[in-house]
Amino acid sequence: MARPAPDQVRRVAVIGTGLIGGAWAALFLSRGLEVSASDPGPNGEESLRAMIARGWPVLEKLGLAPGADPERFTFNADPVKAVQGCQFVQESAPEKEDVKAALVASLEAGLDPDIVIASSASALLPSKIQARCKHPERVIVGHPFNPPYLIPLVEVVGGAKTAPETLDWAASFYTHCGKRALKLKKEIAGFVANRLQGAVYREIINLARMDIASMADIDAAMSQGPGLRWAVMGPSLNFHLARRTGFWDFIDSFPNEFNTYDLADGKTVVDADTRKRMVDGVAEATGGRGNDALARERDKAIIDLIATLRGRDLPE
Ligand SMILES: NC(=O)c1ccc[n+]([C@@H]2O[C@H](COP(=O)([O-])OP(=O)(O)OC[C@H]3O[C@@H](n4cnc5c(N)ncnc54)[C@H](O)[C@@H]3O)[C@@H](O)[C@H]2O)c1
Repeated sequence: MARPAPDQVRRVAVIGTGLIGGAWAALFLSRGLEVSASDPGPNGEESLRAMIARGWPVLEKLGLAPGADPERFTFNADPVKAVQGCQFVQESAPEKEDVKAALVASLEAGLDPDIVIASSASALLPSKIQARCKHPERVIVGHPFNPPYLIPLVEVVGGAKTAPETLDWAASFYTHCGKRALKLKKEIAGFVANRLQGAVYREIINLARMDIASMADIDAAMSQGPGLRWAVMGPSLNFHLARRTGFWDFIDSFPNEFNTYDLADGKTVVDADTRKRMVDGVAEATGGRGNDALARERDKAIIDLIATLRGRDLPE
């Protein structure tokens, strides 16, 4: 079977149906795909059915594709049999290099060489996961955020032997499934999102160590402040809007201010190449929108967010 176009995939395999695999299965079913699942645990099939049932009301709210059916899955205890006839594989076994490398290599026996195998690994590098494969060029990491049926982000990461077209295909397949696929230019521990979470969380530990504020207040400093803005357009575009002149003005001044904070991560240095990459990248991210238009977009989305949260943790 040749690899179909990303929007022509009809049948996918989900190997390992714990928290993450079960949620992937629910997402793929909601997109009208047929799912072939496998897991060695006890009561695998019933437990998968329960997880799909848990995610389904959320998926109904997000919108189902034509043909979406929570029962359109089959279960096979043998993973090699489960992947047969599938046009994409999402592996979600435990985060152990040995387990994943052996499992992914074993799945090849049931697949044509060009069928993409994506691992949900959250920290293991794809170069390690593909190491024992006959066709490592079709192996990637497709790292979701829990639960994958709700949080749009999936990080698409290739190893040393991954073909660039595999990354393009996978990013487009995930996009077709309604995800926001972020393609890394190269592999790195923690990928992008967990590195960002790690940097913030190191500072939370630092603030707690110095007993600066309660844990609830440190959380609120994020969820009622930058978190609302970051949910809409991310840190760099927001800082672009924090200067009337533009992002270049921010990058030339604010990082020096960070250095007066004695942050958990030590000193921040912005060298010339990094500065250029950041300034050019933010200009590209504006998509030609001026600051007024961007600020209106930000404000409108935050009003919607605040309206949704009102009555829970915002004052009336
Ligand atoms: N939990 C999270 O928030 C999260 C988020 C993103 C990515 N991930 C990654 O997703 C993967 C799965 O994590 P999880 O949280 O679903 O774990 P989990 O423990 O809930 O599920 C793992 C499943 O894999 C099965 N399994 C065990 N050995 C297997 C094998 N050899 N072949 C196939 N299946 C096997 C287990 O029976 C279990 O059902 C890990 O790589 C993890 O790092 C987790």
